Amino acid sequence: MNNTNIKAWVGLQQHAEEMAAIHLNDLFQSDDNRFDSLSILEGHFLLDLSKQRITVDTLDKLINLARQQQLASWIDRLFAGEKVNISENRAALHTALRLPGNELKEIDGQAVTADVHQSLAKMGRLVKQIQNGQWRGFDGSPIKSVVNIGVGGSNLGPLLACDALEQYASEELGRLDVHFVSSMDGSELEKLLPTLEPATTLFIISSKTFSTVDTLANANTAREWLLKASQISAERIIQHHFIAATGNPKAAKAWGVPKKNQLLFWDWVGGRYSMWSVIGMPIALKIGMEHFRDMLKGAHQMDKHFKAAPFEQNLPVLLGLVGVWNINFLNIHAHAILPYDGRLAQLPAYLEQLEMESNGKSINRDGERINYRTCPVLWGEVGSNAQHAFYQLLHQGTEDVMCDFIVPARRYEDNGEELQQQHDLSLANCFAQSRLLALGQGALEQDDNSKDYQHYDGNQPSTTILLDELTPETFGGLIALYEHKVFVQSVIWEINPFDQWGVEKGKQVATSLLNELDHVTGGQRLDSSTQGLLKYTQRKRQVGGYEG
Ligand code: F6P
Repeated sequence: MNNTNIKAWVGLQQHAEEMAAIHLNDLFQSDDNRFDSLSILEGHFLLDLSKQRITVDTLDKLINLARQQQLASWIDRLFAGEKVNISENRAALHTALRLPGNELKEIDGQAVTADVHQSLAKMGRLVKQIQNGQWRGFDGSPIKSVVNIGVGGSNLGPLLACDALEQYASEELGRLDVHFVSSMDGSELEKLLPTLEPATTLFIISSKTFSTVDTLANANTAREWLLKASQISAERIIQHHFIAATGNPKAAKAWGVPKKNQLLFWDWVGGRYSMWSVIGMPIALKIGMEHFRDMLKGAHQMDKHFKAAPFEQNLPVLLGLVGVWNINFLNIHAHAILPYDGRLAQLPAYLEQLEMESNGKSINRDGERINYRTCPVLWGEVGSNAQHAFYQLLHQGTEDVMCDFIVPARRYEDNGEELQQQHDLSLANCFAQSRLLALGQGALEQDDNSKDYQHYDGNQPSTTILLDELTPETFGGLIALYEHKVFVQSVIWEINPFDQWGVEKGKQVATSLLNELDHVTGGQRLDSSTQGLLKYTQRKRQVGGYEG
């Protein structure tokens, strides 16, 4: 089906033509109640859509589109564990990872809730052993440092959560140093290993497939480092120093990780949706199992809201639909993620994967090429830092950009006045920047002497997500909000957000080139650029870095 022909879509196109002439400043001038009618309060979240180029009528039309695209039934199918990931014939049941133990779920004969809680219980036991010093390194020392080796979904979520919730780490939890390494070239390990003590370092190999070359290369380097330092057998080293969080126990075993050191999850958990599973082990090590469970609780609250709330009040639905409006009807294809809170510095990187790996597609569920835009280019930075970097483009460039401002209302309440003042400063900047982006000159005092190059056009749309405060619970809710937003958009666009074939193919191409690095075998028909690059590299490697 070509969804641009459907009635609601055509209606939105006409509506967009009418809206094109109206500046956000006019929308605010003409309606004093704009904030009240276009912001939604739900639990600990306030979603302010009033700085989007929409009216209540726009939202009605978008909701109508969602109905025509059967969004309600797709949400039911997602939660019911239907195989919504059609190209891989799998369910996408990340929501089951945060179900309370008493909400039983069974799929294809698997007692999902029981399995989830069993695997969390095993993770909890290991976390406790490590935190209270019972888990020992090869010479009997307790563990002081944990290194997560993983990439993509096996890195970004835990990294983000550990940063965001660091204040929840406490002395009683053992205060482990938790590090993350992901890069294939070994840069992070090269820097990190000399700072660590082999006997007190534990590695978690986080990999759903246990076949990602980046992760295995780092794991091999870490194992060699330990073997050299300890002079004991690989088997004993792995027993004391490696845990695998994986969906592929066979491959983990083949690498040498014994069953008791394996934490498992299932093929119905997508990599970029996996931080709620045992992939979250570094989070639990950092902030404790109780706080990890609070994070699950917050995500579960958002799941319940997504499932039950009417579309008019449904945060993920509205966030997703407003994105569709910007992308497909206002032709905005850049999306900036701007947390005004340094603890969320990793959020842009996390959302880059979540959104672009999920919805960066151009083939619909029926395998047909589509004729409308899908996921935009996402990027971002802590907002106040970005003000000194790329905001110039947002304010006076030629690109339309939609922005998400994310900020907690309360912070530092027990940390003294200076830090509280810094939070005030951050909040004020957040609200001022979104105001200026929306209203342009309308936000400024009239200055008749201002030159053209000082002019602010404004009309850049943004959403503000205001959290009461950043806690494990609100953090879980925030991430679940974005997960579901991505799903909503995929339903409107009729694409499968749960596969990533583009990435899989890329991996194969790289593997086949590895053999050609030392000499071009000629076994493959390579383009002249690749051949040229390979030959030049070979020359440089042969002459040891001297001009050749
Ligand atoms: O890069 C693609 C990808 O498959 C991501 O979807 C995934 O999160 C990442 O690689 C890591 O995969 P794994 O956890 O299997 O090592």
